[in-house]
Amino acid sequence: MEHVHKFEPKRHLAAKQAPKVRLMKDLGFGEDAGVSAVAYSEAFQLFTPEAIRIMREEIDKPEVRETCKFSSNIAAAQLRGYAKKYAPFTYEAWNHAETLKMISDIAGIELVPVMDYEIGHINLSTNAKTADEGQVNGAEGSRSNGGNAGMGSSRTDDEDKPIVGWHTDSYPIVCVLMMSDCTGMVGGETAVQSVDGGITKVRGPTQGCAVILQGRYITHQALRAHGGKERITSVTSFRPKSAFIRDDTELRTVRPVSDLSELYYGFAEYRLEILEKRIQAERQKMQARHQAGDAMDTLGHKEFLGEMIRFVEQSDRELVEESKVQKGVI
Ligand SMILES: [Fe+2]
Repeated sequence: MEHVHKFEPKRHLAAKQAPKVRLMKDLGFGEDAGVSAVAYSEAFQLFTPEAIRIMREEIDKPEVRETCKFSSNIAAAQLRGYAKKYAPFTYEAWNHAETLKMISDIAGIELVPVMDYEIGHINLSTNAKTADEGQVNGAEGSRSNGGNAGMGSSRTDDEDKPIVGWHTDSYPIVCVLMMSDCTGMVGGETAVQSVDGGITKVRGPTQGCAVILQGRYITHQALRAHGGKERITSVTSFRPKSAFIRDDTELRTVRPVSDLSELYYGFAEYRLEILEKRIQAERQKMQARHQAGDAMDTLGHKEFLGEMIRFVEQSDRELVEESKVQKGVI
């Protein structure tokens, strides 16, 4: 009989001191370049070994391996969208208020998972020779160098080269969690680009550790890792909890490796929620002015309408008809 584990923050969340963070302004960005002043964090212990073990049991379930596996030209094996249905512990771990507080405190902004479908995206690499890429999720691939190197590629001449080149992610903020024991593993850093082109390497996390990155705004690439039997990373993408902070989410890089019905539902649903809250706030503001005897703020309201039009157009652009999406090609 299957034992069901419950996520308990005291037992499963690692309460260590906050990691060092690098700020957007340190990378040369202007004040409103992203959704937070924090660009990225150094690796920090997020979950305990027991939590990682349970999460790994959940992704080893046959139903997950059979129904949630995707591959593309830039990633041979990924597991996507399994958490809500098949991985209750993982789902709860990423949605728990204490986890979200810990991640939000480090990221410098209150965050929620961008949608259920993007909880615990798994990048799988079980052969040391093929290495892996830590943040395939949300990779643009548009400026990819050697972007087709996948499983089975030779490692003799690709030391230090990424599988996916410089890119930005689809979602505002990503948290990359290391699921493997990295003993004996070399490489696997994330390289981050400053506005002036300078490059910094962020050391890759070890098992149970995570890094947080404002991936939508910062050009980065994950470098290859060598050694070790397997490398499994789990990527959860986040957006600001507040409906009044901008949402620049794109789906371009995840459409080809998704159950589109689930991905589109998640995206369309939260975008409508944002819209609803913004419209409600604008309506209340308008009513309050009127009740106070003030004149209609026509220009202000037209500005709001313009914002709403752009927001709706963005939602519409991202929801590409199913028949026009090519599976596995990013
Ligand atoms: Fe990325």
